[in-house]
Amino acid sequence: MTSRSGQVRLAPSILAADFSNLGAEIAAATRGGADQIHLDVMDGHFVPNLTIGVPVVKSLRKATTLPLDVHLMITDPDRYIEAFIDAGANMVSVHVEVLPHLHRTITQIKKLGAKAGVVLNPSTPVAAISEIAADVDFVLVMSVNPGFGGQVFIPHSLEKIAGMRALLDRAGNRAPIEVDGGIDLTTVARVVKAGAEWLVAGNAIFGGGGGAEKAAAALKAAAIAAAKG
Ligand code: DX5
Ligand code: ZN
Repeated sequence: MTSRSGQVRLAPSILAADFSNLGAEIAAATRGGADQIHLDVMDGHFVPNLTIGVPVVKSLRKATTLPLDVHLMITDPDRYIEAFIDAGANMVSVHVEVLPHLHRTITQIKKLGAKAGVVLNPSTPVAAISEIAADVDFVLVMSVNPGFGGQVFIPHSLEKIAGMRALLDRAGNRAPIEVDGGIDLTTVARVVKAGAEWLVAGNAIFGGGGGAEKAAAALKAAAIAAAKG
């Protein structure tokens, strides 16, 4: 994997956090080594769940200096991209499955000053982005079907991450691969070795009893060890 930067980044997903205490939860994860905060936006149409929108992103912008990584699981992302970037999103990722004009959408995200990511559901082939592989700032490979935290990692995601890394390499693009769903101490080393560099984790960081700081630190240490090894 010559094209990898070798720098793993931990992206805690607040979906599993205590929503009455988000500022403190994010601060704890940050002390544990979080590099960016992953925010899951769901509309009840693209995925069977509802979560947060622009006002929450705007509030969290004041609660952290870390980059905000906004994952849009909505049917019509084009309508909301500008609002999320105005609210403070630094990375915006959109699902391939809902966008017939994906090149236009990622161009727009970049033009508005954010990093543009494309997301693939588990059933979406790597080749779905072959024509725009040179244009993306990052790729998010879903390792569960989006909609809920706490699901079991889909093992085939490992081949998918490796295949995506090969596609990006062929396009001469060093863009990192982010992985989302079921990332914990039992799966993190395998996804890093397969080529993932940005690691989203919800339950593994906020779901346990030991606190987000300790959990984030343990996960990050495991990821760094895997990246070196
Ligand atoms: C699922 C979301 C994830 C979710 C991951 O649709 O995109 O970001 O929070 O949760 P865990 O890490 O618990 O699988
Ligand atoms: Zn997500």
